[in-house]
Amino acid sequence: MTAAGYRVPALIATKRDGGELDEEALGWLVSGYLAGLEGDAVDAAVSEGQMAAFLMAGVVRGFTAAEALALTHVLVDSGEQLDLSGLDGPTVDKHSTGGVGDGTTLLAAPLLAAAGVRLVKLSGRGLGHTGGTLDKLESIPGLRVDLTPDELLRVAAEVGCVVAAQTDRLVPADRALYALRDVTATVESTALIASSVMSKKLASGAGTIVLDVKAGSGAFMPDADAARVLAGLCVRIGVGAGRRCVALVTAMDQPLGTGVGNALEVAECVRLLSAPPAGRLAEVALEIAAAGLSHARGDVDLDGARDELVRRWAAGEALEVLRRMVAAQGGDAEVCERPGEVLPRAPVRRDVTAAAGGWVASVPARAVGELAAALGAGRTRKQDRVDPAVGLQLHVAVGDPVDPGTRVVTVHARDEDAADRAAAAFVDLLAVSDAEIPPPATLLDVVT
Ligand code: URA
Repeated sequence: MTAAGYRVPALIATKRDGGELDEEALGWLVSGYLAGLEGDAVDAAVSEGQMAAFLMAGVVRGFTAAEALALTHVLVDSGEQLDLSGLDGPTVDKHSTGGVGDGTTLLAAPLLAAAGVRLVKLSGRGLGHTGGTLDKLESIPGLRVDLTPDELLRVAAEVGCVVAAQTDRLVPADRALYALRDVTATVESTALIASSVMSKKLASGAGTIVLDVKAGSGAFMPDADAARVLAGLCVRIGVGAGRRCVALVTAMDQPLGTGVGNALEVAECVRLLSAPPAGRLAEVALEIAAAGLSHARGDVDLDGARDELVRRWAAGEALEVLRRMVAAQGGDAEVCERPGEVLPRAPVRRDVTAAAGGWVASVPARAVGELAAALGAGRTRKQDRVDPAVGLQLHVAVGDPVDPGTRVVTVHARDEDAADRAAAAFVDLLAVSDAEIPPPATLLDVVT
């Protein structure tokens, strides 16, 4: 028993038996775990084993919405918060729950900035089959993502948007808990995911938060109903904390864009911003930006926001903001004019063609992400280094007709063996149907 009157085994048992903990008890538990990690000799130290047992009890028995809210506050209070009040204009943040070929940040951030919104976006790295915005940006020669809080604010003020790594001082408790959840099979809890995501968004300080909750085989949430529940909980936490908050539910059964791999995805985003918006990746980025603009600015509804953003995109304004952001972060801004020459290129390229004719029935996002990661584009452990040049350039999507011999993918690999393995694996994972397949919807729902 400690001065606060809590005993760790009793709190774990409460969760194991389906009980509910309040914010004080959760705060005590989490700060005790952080103290234990830092080696502080305090009577409240919570061991890794105890925290793992608590998380697993919660994952199995379920956390309540009140616990998710309380845990979010505990996580936010564990570190510093960004103060964006000095920025001129409304502030928006966006977050995706993680997908494959998902370059929406590189499109939506400069697009929102072009419309007068300020965006300080703290992003993550890829892990497992999912890609990470920081890895994508770092494929641009010279670009820095480790910016100080002063640098973040300066770039956001000058350019309108900045995309960088989360500082160590923001939500340290989420980082510690996430690392433990990752190795104890306790990631897949709606309440834990919602509090983890929303703690980072609340600490990042934006007045409006747009979430892109992915649903499908390549996402944490296997179907649209589960994603809607997560989206609803996130929005409730955001609104409860006094922010404007909206969540899109979008499909992640197949990769969103055509590039899967860091430099390939940057090149795709530059190409997309060089013409009027077209395709599924552009559609999701546009909806994220329109939701953010209409909530942040108050003088425009969703349709008006979308119209304005399409106009700005087509006029090249978002590409120009991206160019200035890359330059402000030390990167080679020529990437926005000549991506093929500036970005690293893989030494081996291998085209793969369809063996049979029909309609593409499935390009499974998780398997494609794992294939790109196996080529070197992703990591299986946090300390792994990614190869910026390798990956897959998809030429078909679900619903496309193919003939025998139609090019379906180009593998970008470090050597011939890796290209052979990836090409053979892609042939196995691509499903082609004799019957016509309608292209599936990408935007599944909007939760406000
Ligand atoms: N992304 C996060 O930031 N946290 C989670 O728990 C899951 C996905």
